[in-house]
Amino acid sequence: MTRTGTAARFPGHTAADDDVSKRLLDSAATLSYDPATEIDWEAPLPDGHYGLNPEWSTLYGTRLWGEMSEEQRVTLTRHEVCSIMTTGIWFEMILQQMVLRDQYLKDPGSAEFRFALTEIADECRHSIMFARACEKMGVPQYKPNRLIAQAGRLYKATARGELAYGGILVAEEVLDVMQRDWMRGENVLEIVRGTSRIHVVEESRHMKFARQEIRERLRDAGPARRRAAATGIAAGAFVIVSSMVHPGVYRAAGLDIERAVAEVRGSEHRRAMMRTSSRHLMAFLAEAGLLTRASTAIYRRIHML
Ligand SMILES: [Fe+2]
Ligand SMILES: [Fe+2]
Repeated sequence: MTRTGTAARFPGHTAADDDVSKRLLDSAATLSYDPATEIDWEAPLPDGHYGLNPEWSTLYGTRLWGEMSEEQRVTLTRHEVCSIMTTGIWFEMILQQMVLRDQYLKDPGSAEFRFALTEIADECRHSIMFARACEKMGVPQYKPNRLIAQAGRLYKATARGELAYGGILVAEEVLDVMQRDWMRGENVLEIVRGTSRIHVVEESRHMKFARQEIRERLRDAGPARRRAAATGIAAGAFVIVSSMVHPGVYRAAGLDIERAVAEVRGSEHRRAMMRTSSRHLMAFLAEAGLLTRASTAIYRRIHML
């Protein structure tokens, strides 16, 4: 591998790595969106439209789902999508800080630096877009609990390299699969379809970047570092997946929280959806040597494997 020019000044970063960033920058220049003008924020929300495709509701296929009225289902899916969007904002804030820290004093002439900053700008627009969508749906903020919020604070302040990009990739991959369905859902609110379309296009570049960064940072890593990264990323996945949908959404739909949470936990359909949305991610983690015994156990527990 040649380590020339700009790349040579950073150990481990090659000209081939920079080429990936260059291609991503070209793509960003031709295909990026401004949600402020791209989405019709004034259009009224049709009563019967769901917040997300019913199959993506945490309760879909359970006995409780069968007992719910159509109105409750619409309310539940709108609160679920907003809960996922606010988790998205929370995670995008973590991500922006980690990427910014990672690029501290790196060469502004490198494509890696410029793409990293482009990604931060994308995430900034995404968070504003999700915030507006939740406001439009009239759903208040769902926050992670205190312990998880503090864990996020610690992670964003300390995670570096493959651990930082691993967490980023997990969040982006899981959301990607769901949003590909949301953007096509005929009975899904237009505001959700539109925001998902924008997110899917722009995040596909972020995922390529994260995979490249993980490969690069792990290139010369020994087995101990790889194992530590594998466990750390899986722990991040556990936090992301378990805080995606806040239990408060069940109360908002007039349901008993305890019963709803118990039915979600026992739902075979939910598990299958989680496994489907993780398939691509698991294939990459396997290729990168990040599916160790410890991390596999965690992914099984949260039904990503
Ligand atoms: Fe995003
Ligand atoms: Fe992203």
